[in-house]
Amino acid sequence: MDKNEKINELARRRGFLWPAFELYGGAAGFFDYGPLGAPLKRRIEDIWRQYFVIQEGFAEIEAPTIGVEGIYQASGHLSGFSDPLTGCKECKEVYRADHLIKHIVEVPDALSNEEIYKTIQENEIGCPECGGQLTEVYEFNLMFKTMIGPGNKMTGYMRPETAQGMFINFPRLLRYFRDSLPFAAVQIGKSYRNEISPRQGVIRLREFTQAEAEIFIDPRDKTHPRFGEIRDIRMKFYSQAAQEKGVEEEMTFGEAVERGVVAHQALAYYVARTYQFLLAIGVAPDKLRFRQHKADEMAHYAADCWDAEVFLDRLGWIEIVGVADRTDYDLKAHAATSKVNLSVFVHYDQPVKRQKLVVKPDFKSLGPRFKGKAKAVGEALKALSPEELKGDMIRLTVDGEPIEIEPTLVSFESVEEEIRGEEVIPHVIEPSFGIDRILYTVLDHSYYEDAVDGESRAVLKFLPAVAPIEVAVLPLMDRKELVGPARAIVDELRRLGLRVDYDTSGSIGRRYRRNDEIGTPYDVTVDYETIEQGTVTIRDRDTMLQIKVPLAQVANTLQALLCGTIKFEAAGTILSPAKEA
Ligand code: GLY
Repeated sequence: MDKNEKINELARRRGFLWPAFELYGGAAGFFDYGPLGAPLKRRIEDIWRQYFVIQEGFAEIEAPTIGVEGIYQASGHLSGFSDPLTGCKECKEVYRADHLIKHIVEVPDALSNEEIYKTIQENEIGCPECGGQLTEVYEFNLMFKTMIGPGNKMTGYMRPETAQGMFINFPRLLRYFRDSLPFAAVQIGKSYRNEISPRQGVIRLREFTQAEAEIFIDPRDKTHPRFGEIRDIRMKFYSQAAQEKGVEEEMTFGEAVERGVVAHQALAYYVARTYQFLLAIGVAPDKLRFRQHKADEMAHYAADCWDAEVFLDRLGWIEIVGVADRTDYDLKAHAATSKVNLSVFVHYDQPVKRQKLVVKPDFKSLGPRFKGKAKAVGEALKALSPEELKGDMIRLTVDGEPIEIEPTLVSFESVEEEIRGEEVIPHVIEPSFGIDRILYTVLDHSYYEDAVDGESRAVLKFLPAVAPIEVAVLPLMDRKELVGPARAIVDELRRLGLRVDYDTSGSIGRRYRRNDEIGTPYDVTVDYETIEQGTVTIRDRDTMLQIKVPLAQVANTLQALLCGTIKFEAAGTILSPAKEA
């Protein structure tokens, strides 16, 4: 078994995740999260909320997962959200055509369907299943279509991204944020894509969880007020230019923006926050890089995009986050389709004074000449520009009647006007996270094997912040005198909000192994010394070191260990050698 198979086997067996609908034969691209997977996912999402809601002051919203047609007409998903498909003429199996030429062309996304088909033919690529001839390449829209209500009157689509929920709520969000930029809204929720052949576990799903922030900024100012906080962080940047050379460049965010590697502070700031978040949940820094999209692989809405990519043993470099500058693409598209003005009036810091030529019609002459229409004629004259008022004769149409007026009946006055601001369509920076891929990465990067007493041990070295079980309480034996104090510890720890498992089944060694495998950071063992001396043993998952701690201090000690405010070796009396069997 390779690492990927071992993790999938462990995930199924221990209750993290498994293919959905097993009872009815399953369907590719759908997974269930089990009793350990669901809390692992929630904890990752909660840390995301810490970073992208609480610390940034963004607003979390929840929009429907089904959307009406207009949304996806405007967003471009109806016309452009498709993958190239080919099918086998013999066995009728269908394939992502670009995936079949990945080993030949570095960026197949950049090729047209005709070019992909030509590559297939030139390289004599046949059906991967039966070797049969492949059909021409055609587009397949990835959205799930449905009908809203009876009678086929209204078409709906399962949302392919949560982002559109933020865009179409822009006017209400703008009001909520008291009509001023910048502001941002986020959603964590399910999105749906009818993927052609999802064969990579949770890496490519038909129903998946996204966490997305849409940050609406003033397009004239792409600096970030908190850039100073991340300026000195060093990271690997794999820019378009670096990809030409095939080597990532390590530098600080400050250098990256100064050298133009990342286009502006606003984009760089959210790349940095993404980096910090990924490290906080246990993504390995040496298996993480940020890669800029090449011009020809950019999504239809993006002007620039940096992907967080992680290295996974079987799959190589995989995208788990995209941080894109979506410019005003979406708001302009929704304004055009919905006919609602989605611009924002931005006030200047100081009003700007400007001289303006004002047209002054000579009403004393216009009155007797045009009588009841004189006012309308005057207003029409005022609406003309100085250029239009030049020439031998001014020509106007008022109430459908053509009118000619001599320029001598109009004079100009230069007045000073104060301009307080202007209408802009905000630009949007979007960090978009694939939570399922991130969760799999946490499993992959946490998975280790070592040996204990000559036997191999599998261990998930989860950071305490994401571990679905934080503490396992284990009475040495399933006896009344040990079960009582052990249960009391469980109750106390749960009252404090810790995620605790209580386990009496099997030898203590087997129970340690089980908890290592599910990533429980600490085991508390209740033995006869608990009764005789009032102490328990706390075992550290990663080092397998054990310390003895007075019963009264167990809760405090565990809380401090989980928060990282004390080191394990300093938290009690070290027992040596540790008892594992
Ligand atoms: N919102 C970006 C994406 O779904 O790919």
